[in-house]
Amino acid sequence: MTIQTLPLFAPIEEDLEAVVAKMRHAARVNLELLDSALAHVVASGGKLVRPALAIAATRLAAGNVEYSKMISLAASVEMLHTATLVHDDMIDQAARRRGNPTLHTVLNPASAVLLGDYLFAQAAEWAAETDNVRVVHIFAETLMIIVSGELRQMWAQWDWQRAREDYMNRIFGKTAALFAAACEAGAVLGGAAEPVVQALREYGRLVGLAFQIVDDVLDYAGDEASLGKPVGSDLRGGNITLPLILYLQDASGDHWLPKLLDGRRLSEDEVRDVVTQVVASGAIEASLHEARRLAEAAKETLRAVPPGPLTDILVALADYVVRRQR
Ligand code: IPE
Ligand code: IPE
Ligand code: MG
Ligand code: MG
Repeated sequence: MTIQTLPLFAPIEEDLEAVVAKMRHAARVNLELLDSALAHVVASGGKLVRPALAIAATRLAAGNVEYSKMISLAASVEMLHTATLVHDDMIDQAARRRGNPTLHTVLNPASAVLLGDYLFAQAAEWAAETDNVRVVHIFAETLMIIVSGELRQMWAQWDWQRAREDYMNRIFGKTAALFAAACEAGAVLGGAAEPVVQALREYGRLVGLAFQIVDDVLDYAGDEASLGKPVGSDLRGGNITLPLILYLQDASGDHWLPKLLDGRRLSEDEVRDVVTQVVASGAIEASLHEARRLAEAAKETLRAVPPGPLTDILVALADYVVRRQR
């Protein structure tokens, strides 16, 4: 089987193949229609960043962990991510994901809710397969944090003031918390010393924040075909992210501002127009600058981690997240 992952993950590619095989096998609820729908989202060409973090952290710790437990953890992390995407796409009303139509459009919103729940449960079962209670705690706490991050985002919709104040908290909740959890749980499972567990967790948090800032940049400046998902969707849905925050800071007299503030939906022409203006402004570079700062800080935390080929993957990943195009 071949998987399309990042070249920098080559040293752990076999592990990632085992993760994907486990996920594909699980995407079966013995209902034909659902199985084909699930196959669209489960292991359908994602970058596998989160399971790679879990594997690198587990292997780094170099404890005597059973191979199948490491794969269960990594698959659990990716399945949790996949489940959040199913629900997130429904909430965001996104039509495409990884180049495929989203579940709520192929089926209907109610089915997407239930299938998302099914995937969450599958992820929980795999977390339990590690036989490590701390890992299960991390899993449950992280899911609570993700949900609260998505709720904060929903409540900050079109709320310029709140959006700006709460941006970092929101992106921690919706994205960085899972990056941190993947690293922490891997280190715990691998039996790392507590300072190493904490350093890896902090690395994951910082890389996750950088990752989401870049995701938010790509939602303005990315290429829809290579992303496999729509651009402009944050603006369309009233999700005020860093590029827009920085753009509006510099353009206080801009004529679009009142419309954004009074909360009415923008027309497609207006969305295109604002996207063009944000892309042409300095806000993209300023956002990327912030992401680079976080990625550098992430690399700093690795000083507390034993050097070697697995730590090198984490360094390369921190560099990758800020120059990625998909
Ligand atoms: C998408 O994550 C959702 C975000 C947190 C931005 P990825 O960009 O890692 O998605 P896949 O798994 O590679 O498709
Ligand atoms: C998704 O954030 C974060 C999740 C917890 C699913 P986004 O809404 O920015 O992710 P994309 O852009 O749809 O992939
Ligand atoms: Mg989304
Ligand atoms: Mg996005």
